[in-house]
Amino acid sequence: MIINGKEYRSVWWENGRLHMIDQNRIPQDFSLMEFTDHLQVADAIRNMNVRGAPAIGAAAAFAMALAAQNATDHGFRAQVRKARELLLSTRPTAVDLQVGVDHVYEQTIKFIPDLAHARQVALLAAQEFANQSAEDCRLIGEQGLHLIPDGSRILTHCNAGALATVDWGTALAVLRLAHRKGRNIFVYVSETRPRHQGSKITAWELQQEGIPHAVIPDSASAFYFWKKEIDLVITGADRVCLNGDIANKIGTYDKAVLAHHHGVPFYIAAPLSTFDFSCAQGSGIPIEFRDSSEITYYGGQITANPGSDVLNPGFDITPADLISGIVTPKGVFKAAEAAQKVQE
Ligand code: MRU
Repeated sequence: MIINGKEYRSVWWENGRLHMIDQNRIPQDFSLMEFTDHLQVADAIRNMNVRGAPAIGAAAAFAMALAAQNATDHGFRAQVRKARELLLSTRPTAVDLQVGVDHVYEQTIKFIPDLAHARQVALLAAQEFANQSAEDCRLIGEQGLHLIPDGSRILTHCNAGALATVDWGTALAVLRLAHRKGRNIFVYVSETRPRHQGSKITAWELQQEGIPHAVIPDSASAFYFWKKEIDLVITGADRVCLNGDIANKIGTYDKAVLAHHHGVPFYIAAPLSTFDFSCAQGSGIPIEFRDSSEITYYGGQITANPGSDVLNPGFDITPADLISGIVTPKGVFKAAEAAQKVQE
């Protein structure tokens, strides 16, 4: 992605360190973070300095590389295994995190007892994972381009942009390419409470790219469907199951139900690392529940009655039968067939 005239990825390795864009500072600041050990990266994933399924997958893969670099010769295997456990515990819903961590872990332990080689392989595996993830997202843009006719008005939810991935984005890769090809598009960006990934991050990315858009409250989508101002919906995913059910940011399912009611196509865009080939259906996806303070306070102000219990699920499940198609690096497939098609 180009920011202030310079090419960036959301996470990258340089001079023996992991670097990332601090997503908690967007849009007020563009600031970078550097990491020299996996414990710091685990905190950054938990605190959502890095967020978005493919981006946390790549950050966690590099964190495993850091763990291997820093592990002492004595007890190397146990230290790397402990780092794996810690990273897997940071966020439960996006399967990309597990895929990124295990890609590096499995390559690394193969080379024990040659520890110099194991450390080198750990870094190469993390770089390979991040490069493949960026390439997958670039291909998603190409595969999904035909879904966006000139003049489309599109609704998206949360942030499935370049910042949520290593580069390009998933849903936004398709929109970015449509815009670059000269198609006239307009994007409704739903705010995405409580953390505002839509109004803060997606809106910022669209502005960087010069794509016409407007932020709407989460509760306003139905109104724009009713006004017949939405031609299609496209979002990302945190996990795609074998039967085509998906998990994505809380509020995605509402949009799928609305799209179905109004006869509007509803697409999901996902790289291969978001497919969970061991998960039969949506009920098997672990849903992250986040801290109640995300609901009870905003900008230091109380936003909920202090004596009330709070439920704060971060994700919901959209069943396959509400999904018109899943845009993958290998093509656009019916939801129920997507897992099998990408494995072929
Ligand atoms: O809690 P977040 O911000 O990590 O949730 C992100 C999403 O739900 C995205 O839509 C999803 O990860 C797809 S990103 C390409």
